[in-house]
Amino acid sequence: MEKGVKILNASGKLGVLIPGMGAVATTFMAGVQAVRKGYGKPIGSLTQMGTIRLGKRTDKRVPTIKEFVPLSDLEDMVFGGWDIFDDDMYAAAINAGVLDNKTLDMIRSELKSLKPLPAVFDQSYVKRLNGTHIKTGKTKMDLADQLRQDIRNFRSEHDISRAVMIWCGSTEVYIESSPVHESLEAFEKGLKNNDPAIAPSMIYAYAALSEKIPFANGAPNLTVDIPAMTELAKKNNVPLSGKDFKTGQTLMKTILAPGFKSRLLGVSGWFSTNILGNRDGEVLDDPDSFKSKEVSKLGALEYILQPELYPELYKDFYHKVRINYYPPRGDNKEGWDNIDIFGWLGYPMQVKVDFLCRDSILAAPLVLDLALFMDLAARAGMHGIQEWLSFYFKSPMVAENLYPEHDLFIQLKKLKNTLRHMMGEDLITHLGLEYYD
Ligand SMILES: NC(=O)c1ccc[n+]([C@@H]2O[C@H](COP(=O)([O-])OP(=O)(O)OC[C@H]3O[C@@H](n4cnc5c(N)ncnc54)[C@H](O)[C@@H]3O)[C@@H](O)[C@H]2O)c1
Repeated sequence: MEKGVKILNASGKLGVLIPGMGAVATTFMAGVQAVRKGYGKPIGSLTQMGTIRLGKRTDKRVPTIKEFVPLSDLEDMVFGGWDIFDDDMYAAAINAGVLDNKTLDMIRSELKSLKPLPAVFDQSYVKRLNGTHIKTGKTKMDLADQLRQDIRNFRSEHDISRAVMIWCGSTEVYIESSPVHESLEAFEKGLKNNDPAIAPSMIYAYAALSEKIPFANGAPNLTVDIPAMTELAKKNNVPLSGKDFKTGQTLMKTILAPGFKSRLLGVSGWFSTNILGNRDGEVLDDPDSFKSKEVSKLGALEYILQPELYPELYKDFYHKVRINYYPPRGDNKEGWDNIDIFGWLGYPMQVKVDFLCRDSILAAPLVLDLALFMDLAARAGMHGIQEWLSFYFKSPMVAENLYPEHDLFIQLKKLKNTLRHMMGEDLITHLGLEYYD
């Protein structure tokens, strides 16, 4: 019997549709244009720079990931999206202040030709923003229909064979899962009745999945993390994933915490604070949007340290996360962590991390990888939650009765084993006894 999964080929153009064309989206799109022209390297992207070992270590088979699995070519990517401001992508990138003018000027005409479509937006879900480039409609279902028409127009205008949608919009206020999210039927009724528990990001996701387009959620909003969306994804055989790109501080946390746990070092407290001055920081200055982010950021440690299994090491550890809006820093965030740990006989020690990172520089390669892997998943007939892409998220989506895997190294193994599985290669267990027979 043939091993592996049947994967349709990646020929033709891949549309990448982005609701929210701000700092992350412009850094991603400008970056892909710059890489295409040879002005820079796609550093941080597993699909572009990663390798994968196949077979035994002695086989010395280590292709790059893009040689191994059939991914769309960067040259075949076409960008589109929506924003509440009508700036073209050159103006939006200048405004975001991530990439320097010299880089942006080299790809100025490409960026100037990219203009956002009017957004589905309601200020009650992002209180600190107010824009004018907005659709109107009587009901949320009308708005979903308008987005679906936008998607169809985009497809035909650019002669697209496949598309993916990646939410890079602002963080919406915290919403808990409620009855309207429980089934597709209830959700569609809610769209027609303008149910307040349906946020704009959900309207985009509904439009994408209805048009059989995979949807990935880069923000901590609830969006597709509800049964109605998994039902729709299953019905239409479309992949979805989320939520909240794992970039700065949480990336560091999910690198360090597995190390402490592996060595059975105790943790009594982990205090994390951030200063950032971009628009994302301004939006997160609103307590309701911050609550979405806080919930997303707090989960990681709890799951990695497993206090229920290691009560002497992690029971009652104190975890606090703060984000402070501080305009002078722009996109160049600073994330401080003070970690109180303890070792042999309970002797205390401290670790301090001061990560002077660039938020969107860390996020852009994740958008690229997610676009390519979500498209791969669709061509491989994988639908619903793509847990193998947990690697990219702060708060990974999982099936209802599972806990999410946060450990970055387990996430990477899972991702690579999924690729091996798709291509009919043996999974790598790292047992390695055969080398000593
Ligand atoms: N940069 C990172 O490292 C990182 C990491 C994890 C998550 N995120 C999340 O990614 C998102 C984008 O971050 P950013 O730094 O680019 O923020 P940003 O403020 O620069 O961009 C967000 C854009 O979304 C637009 N927007 C808001 N609501 C919209 C709607 N309903 N429809 C269309 N457009 C809408 C805004 O006008 C803005 O241009 C945020 O939610 C952020 O929390 C970013």
